[in-house]
Amino acid sequence: MRPPAHPADAAADAAAAGARPVLARTRAELAAARAALPGPVAVVLTMGALHAGHAALVREARRRAASVVVTVFVNPLQFGSASDLQRYPRTLQADLDTLAAEGADLVFAPSAEVVYPDGDPLVRVSAGPLAEVLEGAARPGHFDGVLTVVTKLLHLVDPDVALFGQKDAQQLLLVRRMVRDLDLPVEVVGVPTVRDPDGLALSSRNAHLSADDRRAALALSRALRAGEAAAPRGADAVRRAAREVLDAEPALRVDYLALVDPGSLADLPEGATGPALLAVAAGAGGTRLIDNTPLAVGEAS
Ligand code: PAF
Repeated sequence: MRPPAHPADAAADAAAAGARPVLARTRAELAAARAALPGPVAVVLTMGALHAGHAALVREARRRAASVVVTVFVNPLQFGSASDLQRYPRTLQADLDTLAAEGADLVFAPSAEVVYPDGDPLVRVSAGPLAEVLEGAARPGHFDGVLTVVTKLLHLVDPDVALFGQKDAQQLLLVRRMVRDLDLPVEVVGVPTVRDPDGLALSSRNAHLSADDRRAALALSRALRAGEAAAPRGADAVRRAAREVLDAEPALRVDYLALVDPGSLADLPEGATGPALLAVAAGAGGTRLIDNTPLAVGEAS
């Protein structure tokens, strides 16, 4: 058989041959499998229930590194309620099929006891003021839980590159900030949101939507598009255009619609120009959804 010309070709060949990634359930299994991987190594951190958005992250990881590690761990620390944690879909066998098809090399799927051998950690990463707004305001402690597990998983996997979806824009910003503020030796890469053809941003939570919930949920991406279209007319015009779309969908319970500075998450004042983030969160049925889009306010697109 012809030897692959490039490490990414090796992964492509393995994927084409249907090779399964190595599955590590313990720290020792992870360490042994990680030591055998050629570098550079990219990691995609997930909570499982993988969809095409995760597949895009793995594909981008393969493009950037010789080896790809994917973690699958539903992190109890970042859930506000036990019922939300319980309800989170767990689909490891299907996830492994997806990851085999995408050519991941190693999957780390630990139990909570492996990640937190002493129970809930007494020392945690504090996400700071960037975590007090938007998602953080609705979910106190959520980002401390996220950053704590991200730090632990980065230490355990020891990657050169870590990829995160832009759909969770505040999470991506906080991870970037943590890596910079705490000098973690990893490059963080953001990957654009993947959407269904009707515009709904892919999320593991979409599985909970009824047909009616889904119809209502489409107002989120419609509102973002309306905001984008109004961007050349300034911040207030963006907020008004997006709000109008949300208000026209009575089945949606809007939690927030915010136009913010993408670095500080501070509300963008009227008259400001330049890059901004338009973010929205709303409940459809029993499911809470988030979405966002970057835009340039006050500038012709
Ligand atoms: O985005 C997620 O799925 C989670 O927040 C992450 C980064 C895997 C940490 O648990």
